[in-house]
Amino acid sequence: MFSQRHLLDIESLSREDIVTVLDLAERFREISERPIKKVPTLRGKTVVNLFMEPSTRTRSSFEVAEKRMSADSLNFSASGSATKKGETLLDTVRNLQAMAPDFIVIRHAYAGAPHFIARHVDAAVINAGDGAHAHPTQALLDCATIREHKGPLDGLEIAIVGDIAHSRVARSDIFAFTKLGANVRLSGPRTMIPRHVEALGVRVEPTVEAALEGADVVMTLRIQAERQGGLCLFPSTREYARTFGINHQRLALAKPDAIVMHPGPINRGVEMTPEVADSERSVILSQVTHGVAVRMAVLFLLAGSPPVE
Ligand code: CP
Repeated sequence: MFSQRHLLDIESLSREDIVTVLDLAERFREISERPIKKVPTLRGKTVVNLFMEPSTRTRSSFEVAEKRMSADSLNFSASGSATKKGETLLDTVRNLQAMAPDFIVIRHAYAGAPHFIARHVDAAVINAGDGAHAHPTQALLDCATIREHKGPLDGLEIAIVGDIAHSRVARSDIFAFTKLGANVRLSGPRTMIPRHVEALGVRVEPTVEAALEGADVVMTLRIQAERQGGLCLFPSTREYARTFGINHQRLALAKPDAIVMHPGPINRGVEMTPEVADSERSVILSQVTHGVAVRMAVLFLLAGSPPVE
């Protein structure tokens, strides 16, 4: 059913793997609508949530998913862990592994940290975001949201607007959307569009208006200042909002039933106006709801993977 032992990125997944997660997540959504939102599926399994970077949505939805499946969760953050006393990441995970967890969910500022950990532990490792590299569960929940609102992704026109170069969400979304047959257009300041990104099968548009023209889905991204190394990549937030911010006038260029997405956190008035963020076209909170079901599906599928040889 699912070819992976870990979930480290979207590149490693086949289209069938992605569809398997999405189909299962669709079934798991119903659990969150029951009066008693709990099933015994992962009883006796232990999940370590190791978040070395801040998170609201990913961290809480993993925890909710684990609790709804009756797994035992342990939560660590950078500030509350011994990394503050100089312990290396490898020593931290070796010590956690000594407690025999079944899963390690990790968010880390360094790209590749989850892959590194996966080589050193028996637990199934789930990447909850590593540097500017990957955020696979975000891409899966974005696909689930689009599928609910627009049907299969095949042939859909998806515009991604913003800081593409520093966004792990953009990278994972591009791989997921194109594997599912969507056409992806990008727009943002030239300094925030990776060189040769067209090699991933996407189109870079000269203006945000061109990117939005006829789009089925408009995905906007936050400016990832924490990963820009202090560089000044655009003149001012005000100019960014004026040139790339999504307002009702720009949204009118997309299809009349186009949906608006954002992985969060939103900077209102920068990536989009508050009116767009709160409009009927916005499915931003639907993305969060899908996040729980998708993470339940990922935990379920990885729990069924074969033991380490
Ligand atoms: N989308 C996302 O990763 O949000 P958090 O940083 O709040 O987890």
